[in-house]
Amino acid sequence: MTKRILTGDRPTGRLHLGHYVGTLSNRVALQSKYEMYISVVDLHSLTDRMDDPQKVKNIPDSVRELVLDYLAVGINPEKTTILLQSAIPEISELFAILMNLVTIARCERLPALKEKIRDQKIQHPSMGLLNYPILMASDILSLRAHLVPVGKDQESHIEFAREIAKTFNRLYKSRPGRDKVNDDEDAKKVFPEPEAIIGEAQTLPGTDGKAKMSKSLNNAIFLSDDERAVEEKVMSMYTDPKRTSASVPGTIEGNPLFIYHEIFNKNISEVEKFAERYRTGDVGDVEVKKALVKALNTFLNPIRFRRKNFEEQKGLIDKVLTEGTKKARVEIQNTLQIVKQSLGLPILSS
Ligand code: TRP
Repeated sequence: MTKRILTGDRPTGRLHLGHYVGTLSNRVALQSKYEMYISVVDLHSLTDRMDDPQKVKNIPDSVRELVLDYLAVGINPEKTTILLQSAIPEISELFAILMNLVTIARCERLPALKEKIRDQKIQHPSMGLLNYPILMASDILSLRAHLVPVGKDQESHIEFAREIAKTFNRLYKSRPGRDKVNDDEDAKKVFPEPEAIIGEAQTLPGTDGKAKMSKSLNNAIFLSDDERAVEEKVMSMYTDPKRTSASVPGTIEGNPLFIYHEIFNKNISEVEKFAERYRTGDVGDVEVKKALVKALNTFLNPIRFRRKNFEEQKGLIDKVLTEGTKKARVEIQNTLQIVKQSLGLPILSS
């Protein structure tokens, strides 16, 4: 049986090179080997912005940009099912059920959530935010996903979903053909117990040299940036601050200029020569930056080309999302049916 994979993204706008290195390239590779789903988790976006209607209003645009970026990097809707979380009420229904298996203290202890509350200096976390991990578990379990590729920071969320699945499976059994004797314990499990796939992909630093490229830090190069934007960002990029002139020997390690070159410049010997000349103080930053602009544009051009092409096909994004959501919903409705049967909730004939 082909294993089922689910990943999810909150729609917060355009994706950048950090997303590409961290997860998108991996997803493109995985979609040919697994049954792949990507959920656009717009309800999760509400957990930290519902007090700001302007931000909420931007969600539809962000969803569109996100899906365009997926298609532009090569996520293929024939292979990957892209679904919209808020359009599948059964996910929220499962959420309402699973909530009862989790204590408030357990949610409060979740590292990923604690970090978020600390980093974003959230004084009074809402119930929605506290419930974020249960909603995420509902995404995963409603689709009965086996594998969830996430960054290290999200690992505790997957462990948490796994815990809920185990608890549920221990308390309630699936009842296919109730009168048949079924000795296969696995077949009686309502939920597969999901596992995280933690990528070893490196975290791309920002153009300002900070550890992580991020939209909110304003240090990102977006997949949809045009050539001029890339040039401006690269030419004002952070490099080795010790280098006040081209003749000062520079440091390659941890220098974003070279980290980017190593990832995106396909001309390996050019990169090696620059590295050597940089170390010995035999090249100016401007020359190395100009070469990076060229390399990045070479990398981004086909993505831009595809993005534009998809953008021009009227109604395409809607169609991809509608069809993906429809397909996923059938699966999810099926799960809910099994869940309700296993709980023994009354099921009315429609
Ligand atoms: N919490 C994830 C993040 O911030 C997003 C997410 C929500 C998710 N539901 C998911 C990821 C289900 C994987 C599977 O990145």
